[in-house]
Amino acid sequence: MAAPPLPEVCEAILLSEEQIRRRVAELGEMLTRDYAGRELRLVTVLRGGIVFLADLVRSIDLPLHIDFMAVSPYAPGRGGVVRVTKDLDENLEGKAVVLVEDVVDTGLTVNYVLRLLRARNPGSLEVCALLDKDVRRIADVPVGYLGFKIPDHFVVGYGLDLRGRYRNLPYIATLREDALASR
Ligand code: IMP
Ligand code: MG
Repeated sequence: MAAPPLPEVCEAILLSEEQIRRRVAELGEMLTRDYAGRELRLVTVLRGGIVFLADLVRSIDLPLHIDFMAVSPYAPGRGGVVRVTKDLDENLEGKAVVLVEDVVDTGLTVNYVLRLLRARNPGSLEVCALLDKDVRRIADVPVGYLGFKIPDHFVVGYGLDLRGRYRNLPYIATLREDALASR
């Protein structure tokens, strides 16, 4: 099936559906190998990470649970998290936990969520992020499983949004400058 045409706000496809599919399968294989014999808890921060999570779980051949958390930022799309708006449903005590994130930009979100998760005494805690834009990093976060390092560009698609839209694009695309200006 052909990919849908690039929306007008987009500049170019940065990561194709095929590139993403292959890399997500590799990440799933790594997790399957590293957590062999254990039961995984995948925790995702709503909403950007859900598309990645949905594909990732199907590449992991282990017993696993998924759980969700939502946090509210100071300003939409910016770092500097203030509070938890939806907490996890399950207990993490002693569990092998992997935090699944769409993108690590300043690192503030992951840093904040990691602190919350650590306080619940998991047996182990790792981060699996699809994208890493380390140019703008403020908080140093350990990303044990990474899909792609990308340049400092705002991107949409595969779960990532611009004001709530474009999450359903099957690829990841960069935005045009003018679309960004009004963000
Ligand atoms: P951080 O706290 O700066 O690391 O960024 C956290 C959140 O900002 C991510 O989880 C995304 O929701 C959002 N974000 C950062 N960069 C992008 C992007 O390029 N596209 C869409 N959302 C982004
Ligand atoms: Mg996010």
